Amino acid sequence: MIKKIVVINSKGGCGKTTLSTNLASYYAAHGYPTALLDYDPQDSATRWLSQRPESLAGIYGVAAAHPPEENVTRSFQLRVPPGTQRLILDTPASLKRMELIEILRDAWAIIVPILPSTIDSCVTSDFLKDLGKEIRMHTTDASIAIVANRVRRNTRAFQTLMKFLEDKDMPPVTCLRDSQNYVQASAEGMGIHDMKATLTRVDREHWQSLIDWLEAEPLNSDTEPFDTGTHRSIA
Ligand SMILES: Nc1ncnc2c1ncn2[C@@H]1O[C@H](COP(=O)(O)OP(=O)(O)OP(=O)(O)O)[C@@H](O)[C@H]1O
Ligand SMILES: [Mg+2]
Repeated sequence: MIKKIVVINSKGGCGKTTLSTNLASYYAAHGYPTALLDYDPQDSATRWLSQRPESLAGIYGVAAAHPPEENVTRSFQLRVPPGTQRLILDTPASLKRMELIEILRDAWAIIVPILPSTIDSCVTSDFLKDLGKEIRMHTTDASIAIVANRVRRNTRAFQTLMKFLEDKDMPPVTCLRDSQNYVQASAEGMGIHDMKATLTRVDREHWQSLIDWLEAEPLNSDTEPFDTGTHRSIA
C-alpha cells in the first residue's frame, strides 16, 4: 500500500526538510521503495538526494516545485516508479492554495514540525487552523502529527512549547533533540538511520515513536477526522 506523508508548516526553518529527508532515508533503509517529492523551489531535498552515497538504499526524487518540461503533463512529472510504498513530500514555508490542495490530495499523514519558540508556536497555531479548514473542505483522510524539533529538554523554551501544545490538546508524537547528527547527516545525503547506530541511538529512539504512529493501523472508522495526537484517526 502506498502512503503519502506530507511534511508541512508555514514557519520557515522548523525542520521540514530535515524530517522529510530522514523519513525518506528511514523507509529506504528499511526496505520500502520510497520517493521524495520536493515542493520547495529552493530544492533543498533534491540537493540532499544528489549528495546521497550510491552505497545507501536508493530514493526516487521528483523536483515537484518546478513546472513540467514542454509536452509533459503535471501528472506525468509527478509519477513515481510502480511499487513505490512511501511517498514523502517536503514543502516550502509559503504555498499557494492550489499547490496546497495538490499536496494534501490523498495524503495518509501530515507531519508538522515545530520549534521551541514563542514565534514558532504562534505561527504554527495559525497554520494549523488554516490547515484544518483545508482538510475539512477537501475531506482528506489524513491525520496530523505534531513533532517538536530541536528540543533541549532542560530549557524554559521547551517547557513553554509543551504547555502550549497541551493547552491546544495537540501533544507531540515525538520530540527530536537538537543534535549535530542531523546537521552532519544532512550534509552527506544521509539520514540519522544511515549513520553509526552507536552515535545515533538516542535519536533513533525519538524517531521510533513517529514511525510507530505512521505505521499504526487506524483505530476505528468512527474517530473524528483532523485529530492530532499519539494515535492515527481516519475519518
Ligand atoms: N533536530 C535538529 N538538530 C539540529 N539541527 C537541526 C535539527 N533540525 C533541523 N536542524 C537544522 O536547522 C536548519 C533548518 O532546518 P530545515 O532546513 O530542515 O528547516 P525547513 O523547515 O526545511 O526550512 P525552510 O522553511 O527554509 O524550508 C538546518 O540547518 C538543519 O540542519
Ligand atoms: Mg526546507
